[in-house]
Amino acid sequence: MEFINISDSIFKVDGRLATKNLITGHRVYGEELIQKDNIEYRLWNPYRSKLAAAILKGLKTIAIKGGTHVLYLGVSTGTTSSHVSDIIGANGRLYGVEISKRSMREFLNLCELRHNMLPILSDAMAIDNYKNLVKEESCDVIYQDVSARDQSGILKANSIFLKKGGIAYFIIKSQSIDVGRKPEDVFEDELRKLKDVFDIVEKIDINPFDKLHMFAVLKKK
Ligand SMILES: C[S@@+](CC[C@H](N)C(=O)[O-])C[C@H]1O[C@@H](n2cnc3c(N)ncnc32)[C@H](O)[C@@H]1O
Repeated sequence: MEFINISDSIFKVDGRLATKNLITGHRVYGEELIQKDNIEYRLWNPYRSKLAAAILKGLKTIAIKGGTHVLYLGVSTGTTSSHVSDIIGANGRLYGVEISKRSMREFLNLCELRHNMLPILSDAMAIDNYKNLVKEESCDVIYQDVSARDQSGILKANSIFLKKGGIAYFIIKSQSIDVGRKPEDVFEDELRKLKDVFDIVEKIDINPFDKLHMFAVLKKK
């Protein structure tokens, strides 16, 4: 097997992405487990995770590392966040915000095993619900993947939790905002609305893994 380090804790194994499994022997979404030198890795499916897709499409800003504090908006059942949990390790922290009770129930099971993840059942727009759990300007990274209408508004509201110079991975779904407009116009509009708070660092087309979203990397001013 050919192993290439993309960062300290993200690997390419024979061309496929993988993270070191924080909980040995445990699968999250049916992913394949592989062993090398007595270490277990979980293969990371780019068709199931837009972060994996962006990395394979050449993402340059890898801000999620060992010890990183991440505010994850739209954590769902925990597919992508489980890999983020692998990457940040025992010294990192992931606050997972999710509006759906049904998804949160599954994510809760994951949090029982993975002690670096903290579940927050809330609308990501209602930041007052979790202001007591997440300190202002305490997070290194915001990862936002919510299928909501006001996506730029949600990121702006949550930017108070991000450190100055912190990175936001902002995944935009044009269909949740306006089905009638060209996706490119919706993407540009959402980014324009954030210009007073963020600088745009990268824009990544995650096609062919996902055709409906745009993946943007922003830096808090
Ligand atoms: C595309 S899924 C997220 C997938 C997940 N990021 C992953 O890769 O594993 C979008 C999620 O956003 C959640 N969502 C939609 N609106 C939300 C809101 N206002 N606040 C919090 N979560 C929201 C949905 O319930 C859904 O679980």
